[in-house]
Amino acid sequence: NPIAPPDITQCELVPLPSESDPSNCCPPTSTKIKNFEFPSASTPMRIRPAAHLIDKASLAKYAKAIALMKSLPDDDPRSFKSQANVHCAYCDGAYHQAGFPDLELQIHFSWLFFPWHRAYLYYFERILGKLIDDPTFALPFWNWDAPAGMQMPAILLTPNHHFMTPFATRITNLRHCKWCPVPRSLLSFFGKPYRAGDDPSPGMGTIETTPHTQIHIWTGDPNQTKGENMGNFYSAGRDPIFYCHHSNVDRMWDLWKKIPGGKRKDIEDTDWLNSEFLFWDENKELVRVKVKDTLDTKKLRYGFQDVPIPWLKTKA
Ligand code: C2O
Repeated sequence: NPIAPPDITQCELVPLPSESDPSNCCPPTSTKIKNFEFPSASTPMRIRPAAHLIDKASLAKYAKAIALMKSLPDDDPRSFKSQANVHCAYCDGAYHQAGFPDLELQIHFSWLFFPWHRAYLYYFERILGKLIDDPTFALPFWNWDAPAGMQMPAILLTPNHHFMTPFATRITNLRHCKWCPVPRSLLSFFGKPYRAGDDPSPGMGTIETTPHTQIHIWTGDPNQTKGENMGNFYSAGRDPIFYCHHSNVDRMWDLWKKIPGGKRKDIEDTDWLNSEFLFWDENKELVRVKVKDTLDTKKLRYGFQDVPIPWLKTKA
């Protein structure tokens, strides 16, 4: 059976490192839940720009939207703090699997990785757009799969980001690209099956392992005990660069399916398709999203700026 959405009113305090917020990472709760609906087909497309190519006006919008989100009160489910906590709650054991109180719910290390993060970013982006009243607002993507995309706009960097050197030399080695999303069988791309009653973390897919996780670690601060923010699940969402990183992870899923040959498509197992999560939307409403709602970016009314894809011809 598919993984059911967690009962978020049963959020548990998780042992977080002491210097962090001692409270917990539990986002706001509600018992009123609505079902996901696709935006209408006439909704304008949001085209996510490559961060290194972003124009001044879009960068200013991005900065303003993030600042507004950060200025919302912590108990607003759309606040930056609540949104970061959503990520923490779904991966640090704060939520249990519905019907299996002894099992933590974990959305990494399995086939839930791509769809969960896609839905999470979908709402994060919509909240930002609503805050600046721009229905075309789109999250920049960190184009780390191309040498030109290494450079981040200064606004996304802080003195605690130490990642540039190892990152540049290892990821951009496209001649022996171990991570390039060309592979292989479906489950090696998506990650291992994770169904109701299963223990968490059955196994990661290729992109989740590399470069996704490496980039987290390299973007975390090695001088913090746990590599905060990006280097640790509980704190990763507190760094705005997280969302640009995941915007590109999301783009890898989109591009992978477009590789010619028609062999790369979504999993058809109904336990995957019907797995469900809960997210807060731009109107502070709690929404139930199924994996099958997340498969088609066009139906979700967003896409990505076209940029050169140097790994496309690389042999896996
Ligand atoms: Cu939910 Cu990049 O991790």
